[in-house]
Amino acid sequence: MRIALLGGTGDIGEGLALRWAYDTDHEVLIGSRDPEKARAKAEEYETELDSRGLERDVKGFDNEMAADRADVVVLAVPAYHIGDVVEGVADVIDEDTVLVSPAVGMSRDDDGMHYNPPSIGSVTELVQRRAPDDVPVVGAFHNLAADRLANLDVEFDLDTLAVGDDEDARDLVANLGAEIEGLRVLDAGPAANAAEAESVTPLVINIAMNNADMHDVGVRYL
Ligand SMILES: NC(=O)c1ccc[n+]([C@@H]2O[C@H](COP(=O)([O-])OP(=O)(O)OC[C@H]3O[C@@H](n4cnc5c(N)ncnc54)[C@H](OP(=O)(O)O)[C@@H]3O)[C@@H](O)[C@H]2O)c1
Repeated sequence: MRIALLGGTGDIGEGLALRWAYDTDHEVLIGSRDPEKARAKAEEYETELDSRGLERDVKGFDNEMAADRADVVVLAVPAYHIGDVVEGVADVIDEDTVLVSPAVGMSRDDDGMHYNPPSIGSVTELVQRRAPDDVPVVGAFHNLAADRLANLDVEFDLDTLAVGDDEDARDLVANLGAEIEGLRVLDAGPAANAAEAESVTPLVINIAMNNADMHDVGVRYL
């Protein structure tokens, strides 16, 4: 499968790119608003993988070209810009492309982080609204700490959730996530449940901020 990470130059994009390139044979494409930046980052990821004895081809493109080439498109961009990014690639995605949103709207005050969803209810539903009607949308990977993903020395034993209205697309994303060693992706149901799934992220960040030695808190559902 070909996985494009739009905004794959950033933190969560780097983590997912490295893990998929390291743990699977899927082709990983890095997208950016700036194709030069995407190519430079892709090379950086190749160097990191090479230093671990893994020769992998990671390619960089502008976001639209990356999306055009991919079966799965992960929107690894800030929640407040995600709608525009979706519209920027709308012409090159169709019913055979699965769109994945790991994005969470959050605000911060003196007490901590707070879930701050768009008025439609969740970022997943916002992406669904802005994407072409036939493109399946899945919200997933929200609660994974980018630092932990990007450090290939760190072993995983973590859960994350997948939400979305298309069951086949949810399954596909869950299986793709589960190919990352130590990661389990649990089905949390349709997009109407996305707010609950997304709101786990500010919760784990608040736990990390308030408990010593709990940087990069993860979740395991038993
Ligand atoms: N960081 C985490 O631990 C984590 C974990 C789970 C989920 N998430 C979610 O994943 C998303 C990305 O998080 P992140 O921490 O990786 O963010 P980030 O590093 O701040 O940004 C990711 C990328 O987004 C692109 N970008 C920035 N501003 C943009 C704009 N105005 N329009 C279009 N693209 C823009 C940039 O790529 P280019 O400049 O190359 O275009 C940037 O490298 C967020 O929605 C966040 O909620 C983050």
